[in-house]
Amino acid sequence: MKSVGKKVKGTLWIKIDSEKPQIEAIRIAADVIKKGGLVAFPTETVYGLGANALDSNAVASIFQAKERPADNPMIVHIANRKDLCRLARSVPHKAEKLTARFWPGPLTLIVKRSSLVPDVTVAGLDTVGIRMPSNEIALALIRESEVPIAAPSANRAGKPSPTTAQHVIEDLAGRIDVILDGGPTRVGVESTVIDMTKRIPQILRPGGTLFEELKAALGEVMLHPATLSEKQAATLRARAPGMKHRHYAPKAEMILVEGDPDKIVKRVKELAALSMADGRKVGILATDESISNYDGDVLRSLGSRSNMEEVARNLFRLLREFDEEKVDIIIAEGFPSRGLGLAVMNRLRRAASFNILRAG
Ligand code: TXA
Ligand code: MG
Repeated sequence: MKSVGKKVKGTLWIKIDSEKPQIEAIRIAADVIKKGGLVAFPTETVYGLGANALDSNAVASIFQAKERPADNPMIVHIANRKDLCRLARSVPHKAEKLTARFWPGPLTLIVKRSSLVPDVTVAGLDTVGIRMPSNEIALALIRESEVPIAAPSANRAGKPSPTTAQHVIEDLAGRIDVILDGGPTRVGVESTVIDMTKRIPQILRPGGTLFEELKAALGEVMLHPATLSEKQAATLRARAPGMKHRHYAPKAEMILVEGDPDKIVKRVKELAALSMADGRKVGILATDESISNYDGDVLRSLGSRSNMEEVARNLFRLLREFDEEKVDIIIAEGFPSRGLGLAVMNRLRRAASFNILRAG
C-alpha cells in the first residue's frame, strides 16, 4: 500500500477532500474505528474525536485522550436514519419530524436509549444524544466503519472546540490514531442539543440549528435556563452534564462586554486602556464595524455584525489565537442573543467564565 499522510507524534494526519472524500483514506480510518481505535474527523460544526459507540473500551479511550470527566455523555453519530430506531428505545413523533426537516445537519436529539448503547457512551444516563452530521467525510467514515460513532468535540476538555485539523493536532497529537483533515469546518459552533424526552422539547445547548427554526417546526420549544444564563450553571439543575464543566476557555482572563454596539465600543476602549496602563498584554475580540476604533496588543475581528455565520465560524479559532499570542486579558464584544447569536453568546459567556460587563 502506498503511504498516505504523515505522522505527528505517532498520529497519522491524512488530508482528504471534503466534497469527494478519497475512499482509500476513509478505509484506513474506518479500519482504525473497527479495531477500537480513535479517529478525529471533520463534521460541519467542529472536529469530532470518534470511536465505535458500541464498544465500551473504545469509548473509554476517548475520555482518556481528551481528559474528559467521565460524567459527560457522548453524542452518537449515524449515517442512516434506521440507526436512530436501533439506538433509541422509542422515537417520539416530534423527533421524527425534526430528523425529516434538519438531518443531516447540526442537530442532536436526546432520546431514551436502547440496550445496544453501552453505559460508558452515555455516562450511565438512560438517554442518548444522536445526530446525523452533514459533512461528507463524516458520513463516509460512519458508513465504512459500519458502526455508529461516538464523538465529542476533538479538543482537550475545557479548551475551545477545534475548527481545523491543526487545532486537533495541538491538543491530541500522540493521543489518537488518525486525523482526517478536511479543512476548516463550515459552521464553527457545535450542534444544537435538544431533549426530546420532555413533553415540550427543551434545548440544552444552542448551536448550529436555530432555536427560531426549531420553534417554527415544532410549535413549542423551551430553552433550558442554563443556555441563556449569565451565571455559572452549577446553581441551576444541569440537565446536559456538559453545562457544568469549564468550557471553551482560553488561558487568558476574559471579559465579555454586552449591550448596544456603540456603548460596547466605548467600554472596550476604556477597559483596554486601563489594562494597558497596568502593563498587561491586551487582546481585543472585535468586529469589522468596530476594530478600527481600538488600540491593543492583539486585535482580531470575528467578522461583520451583519453576518453571524461568519462570526460563529471564526469564534473558536480566534480564541485559540489569543492563547498563542499569550495575551494576559481578552476583551470581547457581545452580540444579540438571537439567530446564531444565541449559540455564539452561550460560548462567549462560558469562555469568559461569566465575567460579563454591561455597557450602559
Ligand atoms: O457539533 C457537535 O455536536 C460536535 C460534533 C463533533 O458532532 N460534538 C460535540 O460533542 O460538541 P461534545 O461531547 O463536545 O458535546 C456534547 C454535549 C455535551 O454538553 C453533553 O453533555 C451533551 O451534549 N449530551 C450528550 N449526550 C447527552 C445526553 N444523553 N443527555 C444530555 N446531554 C447530553
Ligand atoms: Mg465539547
